[in-house]
Amino acid sequence: MVGDIGGAVSARDRTGTDAALAARLLAAGELVAFPTETVYGLGADARDPKAVGRIFDVKGRPHNHPLIVHLAGVEHLDRWAGEVPVEARMLADAFWPGPLTMILPRATDVPDAVTGGHTTVGLRVPDHPLALEMLAEFGSGVAAPSANRFGRVSPTTAGHVLADLGADVAYVLDGGPCRVGVESTIVDLSGDEPEVLRPGGVGFDRLSEVLGYGVKAWQGDRAVAAPGTLDSHYAPDATVELVTMAELFTRAAAGVTDGRRVGVLAPRVTEGLDPAVIELEPAGDAEEFAQVIYGRLRQADRLRIDLLLVVGPEPRGVGIAVLDRLARAAARA
Ligand code: TXA
Ligand code: MG
Repeated sequence: MVGDIGGAVSARDRTGTDAALAARLLAAGELVAFPTETVYGLGADARDPKAVGRIFDVKGRPHNHPLIVHLAGVEHLDRWAGEVPVEARMLADAFWPGPLTMILPRATDVPDAVTGGHTTVGLRVPDHPLALEMLAEFGSGVAAPSANRFGRVSPTTAGHVLADLGADVAYVLDGGPCRVGVESTIVDLSGDEPEVLRPGGVGFDRLSEVLGYGVKAWQGDRAVAAPGTLDSHYAPDATVELVTMAELFTRAAAGVTDGRRVGVLAPRVTEGLDPAVIELEPAGDAEEFAQVIYGRLRQADRLRIDLLLVVGPEPRGVGIAVLDRLARAAARA
């Protein structure tokens, strides 16, 4: 079976909805891209350091950036975590399957290739029927980062994965467009109190509600706590600038005057823009904004926009994650 899926087959043959095939390929040490509710992942058998090593080669990702291990259900938690505090059980009950990754002390047999040599491991149960079917069939953990080249925009369709990684994956499990659209919330539960290392699909308000106290963002250097949550990430080729509605018109006019190809992405239709400005389809409220943001950043590149002005969503719920990604896209010099 695996022999049928060599590098010579066309991209079309490497895409499909066969979760059992995806599981067999993982067991054979191959890389498989799979859908989750957040973004597509580039998966490998988390117990196979050689397969995990290939993720880093294909992505061009530094080897000390740890990977999230994806599990079929909460019942697998204790096989991967060395210690599970009560807060972790509460959060798993409330949000798994779902867009929440927990950083916990690792079980001693979790390979260094997965954890980047850290004493902790990131764990999550994704909320997508094909991913859950693949994971259940596989029966063990699947280490996976987002299925994009390092530093680039995360994929939210199978087409995005193929465009980015093409022949470097054995199979792309196609689960349609991702429902949430931005990555999982990462909560570090390995310290004295839970801290959010990356805002994501589960908002601070919902975490705080379940735990019964206000959960805070990590205050230290994020690049040290969660390598890969660097500034200058999630970047399209276009220069991204976050602006307020009030700043939009003068920034757009100035861009046009400078001879730049200017695009605009905003929650709603914007009246009165310079006719030379390309207005992308409005992104809507915070939830819709999250769903479409990565697709719109890719679209801006296809349209050869060189300055994309973005009016962000409201800073609540998943809107905070969208603003975080936009700030990182904008941080690229
Ligand atoms: O929604 C998501 O989380 C997606 C889907 C595919 O599950 N995955 C994803 O993976 O966004 P990636 O590798 O692009 O981002 C994972 C982040 C990285 O910044 C990494 O440093 C952090 O999680 N991380 C993973 N394990 C960690 C650990 N043990 N300690 C601290 N940070 C960790
Ligand atoms: Mg990523």
